[in-house]
Amino acid sequence: MIDFSLKTDSPHTTRADAVAVAVHEGQKLSWAASEIDRATQGALVQAVKTAALSGRAGAVLPLLNLPGLAAQRVYVYGVGEGSSLSLKDARAVGRALATLACDQQVADLAVFPPGEGVTDALTQMVLGVSDATYRFDETKGEAARAKAKAPSLARVRFGVPEAAKKVAPAVLARAVAAAEGMAYTKYLGNLPANHCTPTRLGEEAKKLGKRYGFKVTVLDRKGIEKLGMGSFLSVTNGSDEPPRFIVMEYSGGKKGEAPTVFVGKGITFDTGGISIKPAADLDHMKWDMSGAGTVFGVMKAVGELKPAQNIVAIVAACENMPSGRATKPGDVITSMSGQTIEVLNTDAEGRLILCDALTYAERFKPRAIIDIATLTGACVIALGKVNAGLFSTDDALANDLIAAGKRMNDRFWRMPLEEEYQDALSSNFADMANVGGRDGGAITAACFLWRFAKKYPWAHLDIAGVAYTGSGKDKGATGRPVAALVEYIARQG
Ligand code: BES
Ligand code: MN
Ligand code: ZN
Repeated sequence: MIDFSLKTDSPHTTRADAVAVAVHEGQKLSWAASEIDRATQGALVQAVKTAALSGRAGAVLPLLNLPGLAAQRVYVYGVGEGSSLSLKDARAVGRALATLACDQQVADLAVFPPGEGVTDALTQMVLGVSDATYRFDETKGEAARAKAKAPSLARVRFGVPEAAKKVAPAVLARAVAAAEGMAYTKYLGNLPANHCTPTRLGEEAKKLGKRYGFKVTVLDRKGIEKLGMGSFLSVTNGSDEPPRFIVMEYSGGKKGEAPTVFVGKGITFDTGGISIKPAADLDHMKWDMSGAGTVFGVMKAVGELKPAQNIVAIVAACENMPSGRATKPGDVITSMSGQTIEVLNTDAEGRLILCDALTYAERFKPRAIIDIATLTGACVIALGKVNAGLFSTDDALANDLIAAGKRMNDRFWRMPLEEEYQDALSSNFADMANVGGRDGGAITAACFLWRFAKKYPWAHLDIAGVAYTGSGKDKGATGRPVAALVEYIARQG
């Protein structure tokens, strides 16, 4: 992980392998670029003119060996129109600077974000740099791993104007914790299902617990049976891989203070079960534990930031496989809540493990329960890959999550939870069916969970569209929505 920090000397005296300063649209210099220009007696402006640098956000002009500077390289980056960078552009600038730095074997980079909105820009740049330098080599062969160069970039310092100096340390700490949490979430997601088993997730929880002092409980099949989680068990039945029910408790608040509870869907592989999925892109279903991965990433950030709150993380982890012992369409099962469920489609398994986890969460008397799940393809159809779906019975909770997501450019879009949709789940043979029809598939899935989340303020995040990207050279986990949830926690004070 890159060492991020705040620096204090001015652009032209900064000792670094490269110093990055901003130019606005129309070649208007930022405060830091002006200072470099003065120190170099106009060389920066000359170069910007010669190169016809547009100032477009994300464009970077590398300059070498300018006179009068402590640093050998100056990276002039565009920030587009207006005096501040948009969040999206700031993230792109972070990526572009990190990529260029690595191409040039730069280890030590000093970045001067443009004047206004500097703390938001700094946050996005941290996330962008972290994303551009993320690597996943663990499952490559030994030769490839030996050859794979670690990114050269090791240290990034930010220079912020006087007015931002007071708040900058807390902003940076939060951004770095979010970035490291995201990298961990990506790591767990990108691990294939034969590595990232429920057992492995249990071990990861214990590792986190040891490192950060969480109380960790990992239940095996016997423990899950004892709790009466008939719905969770119906999903794991077809698999030879043993299930795990994982609880991590962080106590940063007062004793007895109601905790925030995060619940993650940890299907380490989703074949669909007897209602088996088609073969195309089935490898994507290794990412069906991304809700759990998000919970792990958030808890890592919690361990680093140590907020004065109580926070509980719950992960239900198993595989969804077909076999002679697998649950069959039409089977009726009894959830931990006592409500019975007719399993009409074994591929709607996420809700079956989450409903028991939601019932379990009640014992913490939470101030809020937030579940995170790659729950439905319908949510991807509805919202694409930009916003995650947000469903909530509590307006304040929903609004807090939306605001946190906007701030981090890790966004949620609220979808309806209304009684009328519940009709789709009625069953002749049980208290409910586990699927409605195709209509409003993301909503009826949320409505199913709602039946198990009546006692406390609750929000459900459907991250099927945002947790990973399945195509091209960028194929991989995204680490979303860790940043939004870290911000949400920080705002709870
Ligand atoms: N894990 C899938 C949802 C999913 C789909 C995640 C695409 C990521 C990308 C979930 O378990 C599932 O299979 N849902 C079904 C529900 C249906 C049977 C009602 C779906 O979306 O098709
Ligand atoms: Mn499924
Ligand atoms: Zn699934």
